[in-house]
Amino acid sequence: MPNLILGIESSCDETAAAVVDAGRRELASVVHSQIDEHAKWGGVVPEIASRSHLEQILPVLDRCLSEAQVELTDLAGIAVTNRPGLIGSLLVGVGAAKGLALAADLPLVGVDHIKAHVYAATMDLDHDPYPAIALVVSGGHTALYMAEGALSMTPLASTLDDAAGEAFDKVAHMLGLSYPGGPSISKLALEGDPKAIAFPRYRPKRGGLGFSFSGLKTAVLYHLRGGDALAPTPAPRDIVERANVAASFQEAVVDALVKMTLKAAKEHNLTQVLVAGGVGCNQRLRDVFAQVSEPEGIHVHFPPPNRCTDNAVMIAGLGWQLFETGQAGDLDLDASPR
Ligand code: KG4
Ligand code: ZN
Repeated sequence: MPNLILGIESSCDETAAAVVDAGRRELASVVHSQIDEHAKWGGVVPEIASRSHLEQILPVLDRCLSEAQVELTDLAGIAVTNRPGLIGSLLVGVGAAKGLALAADLPLVGVDHIKAHVYAATMDLDHDPYPAIALVVSGGHTALYMAEGALSMTPLASTLDDAAGEAFDKVAHMLGLSYPGGPSISKLALEGDPKAIAFPRYRPKRGGLGFSFSGLKTAVLYHLRGGDALAPTPAPRDIVERANVAASFQEAVVDALVKMTLKAAKEHNLTQVLVAGGVGCNQRLRDVFAQVSEPEGIHVHFPPPNRCTDNAVMIAGLGWQLFETGQAGDLDLDASPR
């Protein structure tokens, strides 16, 4: 079984391991989410994250190898997320990967988390989607890239302030909904009217590409305060009003993401779009992309929801591509927050 790669991911608040064959076929994927540990703080607390990774990394690795029914000696190599992310969290995965690589005398490769998210959108495709426009939308990133291939991405634009997922998390907090905000807002939004409130959409100057979500977030806050910026923290409104805020906010985010992405695709004359990251789970985003892109001859590909959020399948997958192109690292591999 020469193509089996063990992937390890610990860049944020998921401890994950996966075994993937030849960059595509998943043999096992284990994800331990720390959501419950961070929920009461309304976001990820870096110190809690690294301690939890330390507790979970070995059990997660054990479970993954046993579910895949492989021994370390069956593996062709180990791939680990080494950038970007929370440095204390990254170091746990990188340390574990180095230990295993040394013990089992296996090659090691460091994987870029953002490129791996995008790679996840290509794993089930039966055609080569490159060159493509890639939209990465997660809790920490909202950016557009020109993806020339799985290993080559050129940044085109990114958010000036909050990431889209971060805006979901903060608005959910304002509405008294649970963390993470994306799933709770999208659920509540099903009961609301997306046209009820005309929240603002950011438009970059001079018709360029870009995102900004902090103005939208403030608009939601002022709306909840009844237009009085200095009013005390808003009391939760009635359920219909909350659902309308959730639906109208979600619509504004989706509108911005879809319009900018299609603008980038048209400007670069590309018909293939890859969307990845936790916000890619959002059903409204998927529906609107499908509605507006197909008539334009643009094809938008998403990973399945369990590969939108952080996972190690995408790390093992892209790691295999790196090994194939001779880009293995060594035990000096460093972690980097950027
Ligand atoms: O990619 P991810 O798991 O972690 C990072 O690398 O950031 O993304 C997590 C983010 C969170 O902000 C979460 O609220 C958001 O993805 N998210 C969603 C949905 N599911 C998760 N946002 C909108 N709609 C969803 N259904
Ligand atoms: Zn991520």
